[in-house]
Amino acid sequence: MVAIAPSLLAADMANLGDELRAVSPRADYIHLDVMDGHFVPNLSYGPAVIAGLRPLSDKPFDVHLMIENPEQWVAHYAEAGADIISVHWEATNHADRLLQSIKDLGKKAGIALNPATPVGVITDILDKIDMVVVMSVNPGFGGQKYISNANRKLQDLRKIIGTRDILLEVDGGVTAQTAPQAVQAGADILVAGSSIFANGDCKSDNYNEAIDALKIFQGE
Ligand code: DX5
Ligand code: ZN
Repeated sequence: MVAIAPSLLAADMANLGDELRAVSPRADYIHLDVMDGHFVPNLSYGPAVIAGLRPLSDKPFDVHLMIENPEQWVAHYAEAGADIISVHWEATNHADRLLQSIKDLGKKAGIALNPATPVGVITDILDKIDMVVVMSVNPGFGGQKYISNANRKLQDLRKIIGTRDILLEVDGGVTAQTAPQAVQAGADILVAGSSIFANGDCKSDNYNEAIDALKIFQGE
């Protein structure tokens, strides 16, 4: 069964708490996109906002760091309540050490790969990884079009991962139209922002329906 991780980036920013409460019941994870205006052009939210949201949901917080100098920040996000912390392969010279430092904080460690980054870069750090995040858009903004080359990358990663206990997440442009290909290619977790929060009305019924629509075609 594929898992769904709604991205709060597409939620109503003036009502983040209510949006989180509304989407949580049907979500498997809550995806939190952290942007610093340097690694990616855009800015979003940081540890204080995540710590404020933490008590409002019992679902695991999947924190996606799109920031420079992630080494200096992972402990802050662990403290804020992250369960999974993903860092970008492109944002560090020392992925092996950084991933180990996330595990040493007692958190699951994810590595995110931009569309231009080949999947083979993870081969020698597999023992430090709990999750691989395949970016199916160039990170920085919600609502972009799914880059279908991500499907081939998911298939290749499935082979590299083999029987290891490593989750495969796809992030960006996931809709009811693109979700089936991603699931068929091997994704375990679908991140979805715009396709869930399009209406941004804090209504659980609408969000439940949107989440179900992402799951409905799985395996086809
Ligand atoms: C992109 C972010 C994504 C984004 C997904 O930089 O990492 O998580 O919020 O949003 P949608 O689903 O709208 O593409
Ligand atoms: Zn993300």
